[in-house]
Formats: sequence, structure tokens, C-alpha cells
Amino acid sequence: MSYKKLKTVIFPAAGLGTRFLPVTKASPKEMLPIVDKPLIQYAVEEAIEAGFEQLIFVIPPDKKAIKKHFESTSELDAVTKIGAIIPANVSSLYIEQAEPLGLGHAIWCARDAVEAESFAVVLADDLIDGAAAGGCLLQMVRHYEKNGCGAIGIQKIALEETKQYGIIKYEDEVGSSNRIATIVEKPDPQFAPSLLGVVGRYILPSAVMGQLEKTQKGSGNEIQLTDGISALLGDYRIDGFQFKGQRYDCGSKIGYLKANVDYALKHPELAKEFAAWLTTKQ
Ligand code: UTP
Repeated sequence: MSYKKLKTVIFPAAGLGTRFLPVTKASPKEMLPIVDKPLIQYAVEEAIEAGFEQLIFVIPPDKKAIKKHFESTSELDAVTKIGAIIPANVSSLYIEQAEPLGLGHAIWCARDAVEAESFAVVLADDLIDGAAAGGCLLQMVRHYEKNGCGAIGIQKIALEETKQYGIIKYEDEVGSSNRIATIVEKPDPQFAPSLLGVVGRYILPSAVMGQLEKTQKGSGNEIQLTDGISALLGDYRIDGFQFKGQRYDCGSKIGYLKANVDYALKHPELAKEFAAWLTTKQ
């Protein structure tokens, strides 16, 4: 079977980033650097590696740093030999989310750009180092192309973490199908249907836009992407996809710090000196 090539990826980047205040007052969380590159650039590189050709950034009206980052061609670029990050065959579109009404609303803001096709969503604050197996999104695109279904990145989490995640339940408990039966947003541990938590990678049918249009505010008083997806699960196959790779929750300070340490330890210019310095800290 072959399915229509995926073209569009949405990067929602209009959240308030309250867990990182005050650094997120004037600049979006997605511009936080991991060593020397902002989170959003890792996300874009992952999407380009996976073959996406239309990048849609949902940004807040008052923070233009992401647009500037990708559009800038300053003298500094020439001096430092930084070429264009986004290749010429890949288009970019910046859409403003007037108010941070939730992730579901941010995705819905991009509805006109999506057409009647499946599309991907990448949350840049979930940094995934999939180096050995190809990026997480590339792995998911392959799953889509093989099975013609939607997919949501998931990983095993600890029982005490259920309140931080959407938690999925497979349709088939035996495990022969990965089709999602339900997603529960941030349940208390005793109500969690499994320990499989949703992370920030999605391939979704365009019908989710119609559902988001109707979705009311849910958990956290925000319009939740999960609620829009849940309404589709009876009609559309959407699989939970356990990707290969290391995920860092860079929406939290501890996850962000861990990512910086691990990426610095792999950085060609820093690895040796940084590793030696770290040993003096134990
Ligand atoms: P989070 O749940 O991490 O919220 O958003 P946040 O506002 O970014 O951060 P905290 O919790 O206040 O610290 C998950 C993703 O959804 C985007 C964020 O930018 C992030 O990529 N988002 C969230 C939007 O684009 N718009 C929104 O209204 C809410």
C-alpha cells in the first residue's frame, strides 16, 4: 500500500512557557538553546530529515524571535559560514495565535494551511535524539507510509508521572494492534489506563481540524489537542508509536538541563573538556 506523501508539519510555539519564567518573558521557550542551537532548530532539522516540505510555525503576536532566527541572513552568517537552515525547496509560514488558548487551539490556527491531507505536529520542547534509528519523525513517517494510519509518539512513564501526560490505552490489550482506543489527559495515577504517555510528535488526519473547531476548553482550562484527537478515534486508526531514541522534556527545567549536559558531552568542540570538568563535580 502507498499513501499520499506527507508534506506539512506544524510547530506550535505560542505557549506562555510559564515554567521557564522569567527567560520566556520576551522570547519563546522554543528559542532556548541546547548548547548552541535553539530547540526549534532541532525540531525543524528533524522534520526536514523526515521529508516535510511545508513548515508552519504558530507563534505569539509579541514574540518574533523564531521568524527572525530562520529568516536572518546577516553579515554574521557569512562570517561564521552558517548557511540557510531551511533549504530552498522547503516553505515556511508563520501564523499568529492571538491568545494562548491551548495546544489544540494553536493547531487549529493553522487549519487553512493544512488542506485535506494528513499532517504532522512537532512540539519542539520535546527534544528527541533518535540518532541511531533516524529521527523520531522519520520513524513515524515510515509507520504512516506502511500502515496508512495516524500515529502519536508515546513512551513508558512512571506511575507518579501520569498527571503530566496524555495517557493512552490500546484497543487490543494483547498488543497485536497499536491502535489507540482512548487517551486520557493528565489523569491521577489511579485513573490512568496505562503507563504509556504521549510525547510531542503526531501524524494526524486533517479531520482533526473539524473536531478542534468544536472542542471546548478541557484540562487546565485550555483547548486540548487530545480532546480533538479523542473524538476521531472511533472513525480513524491512530496508532501509539514507541519511537527509538532518547527524549528530553525541555519544557521542564530538569529535562532541559539534562539535555544540555548530554548534548555538550557529544559536542565535538566541548566533549573532552566538559567531561573532565564534570568529574570534578562528583
Ligand atoms: P505546554 O503545555 O508546555 O505549555 O505547551 P507552555 O505554555 O508552552 O509552557 P508552561 O506549561 O506554561 O511552562 C505544549 C506546546 O504547545 C504550545 C507550546 O508552545 C508548546 O510547544 N502551545 C501551548 C501553543 O502553541 N499555544 C498554546 O496556547 C499553548
